Amino acid sequence: MTTDAPSRPFRIDVHPRAGAATELVADVRRGFAERPRNLPPKYFYDARGSDLYEEITRLPEYYQARTELSILRTVASGLVERHAPAELIEIGSGSSRKTEALLDAIALERRPARYVPFDVCPEAILGAAQRLAAQYPWLSIHGVAGDFVRHLRHLPRRRGRRAVAFLGGTIGNLEPVERAALVGELARLLQPGDVLIVGTDLQGDAERIRRAYDDAAGVTAEFNLNLLRVLNRGLDADFDPTGFEHVARYDDEYGRVEMWLRATRQHSVTLGALAQTLELRSGEEIRTEISCKFTRRSVVEMYESAGLRMAEWHTDPEGRFALSVATK
Ligand code: SAH
Ligand code: AVI
Repeated sequence: MTTDAPSRPFRIDVHPRAGAATELVADVRRGFAERPRNLPPKYFYDARGSDLYEEITRLPEYYQARTELSILRTVASGLVERHAPAELIEIGSGSSRKTEALLDAIALERRPARYVPFDVCPEAILGAAQRLAAQYPWLSIHGVAGDFVRHLRHLPRRRGRRAVAFLGGTIGNLEPVERAALVGELARLLQPGDVLIVGTDLQGDAERIRRAYDDAAGVTAEFNLNLLRVLNRGLDADFDPTGFEHVARYDDEYGRVEMWLRATRQHSVTLGALAQTLELRSGEEIRTEISCKFTRRSVVEMYESAGLRMAEWHTDPEGRFALSVATK
């Protein structure tokens, strides 16, 4: 490969209803009517939120990203040799930085291959596609911007053996019922011979895990508060982010971290698109994310309830993060 090799053209399909205003209105109406008030985490990822998440992955406290990457680098070539995928579909692909470990291994096989990044953030797919098209000129890239809960049917037709990757521990951001439904959908994308590769953060020292969501530099706080800017833009609302603080707690009962936004004073927020006013007392909280932590047993059960079999289980030496591989 020469450095001045021309980039191959790529394609990105954008599903217009992904993150559309009507859906945001419905989600906020529902989430604010519940107790505790809550919001779906997919709204974190506007262009700024995706950049902030990338910054999070470089924080010393956020062990998850570097740990998953080191596991991927260790196992990628064996995985690719054993399963010989002709296409790699990645759900919640974000910047696709870690994916490079898998693409480097696929490159060694010297066969044509396709990469399908699927994410709710079109800007993240575009940035990744531009970089990867220059870096891997042999790779065909077909991105899909959509919601993995609603738009997986828009994935392009298969081109041979599939590897479907769902990295980062993003599966832990779903409630158990949503998670089961999504793993069921992912199972439907597979045929015998295909693989599903999933990254999961593991249960362990509660304070170490909590601190990964409450970094000293305040980047995670900024990521959390950015959600209010997304709401202001999408709902014609007037949240004042300076009147909220970031809170991260580890919930022992559910084995998960929760992120909240806590009002530091009384608020009367106009939600223009909902024709509503939200009254918040000082100290009131909105839950913005859950991040579930797993055990080997809970991952096996997750696969089995979707009719899949866990074929491989890889962790770092300290057992903080796992990369598992499931088949039909
Ligand atoms: N896989 C990457 C990014 C993880 S961050 C990594 O490991 O570094 C989570 C990613 O999932 C973000 O890029 C976000 O935009 C995407 N995402 C979150 N909810 C989504 C949804 N409902 N549908 C599609 N993508 C979603
Ligand atoms: C994308 N997801 C797995 C991250 C997590 O760890 O739950 C999102 C995140 N939220 C705060 N920091 C990182």
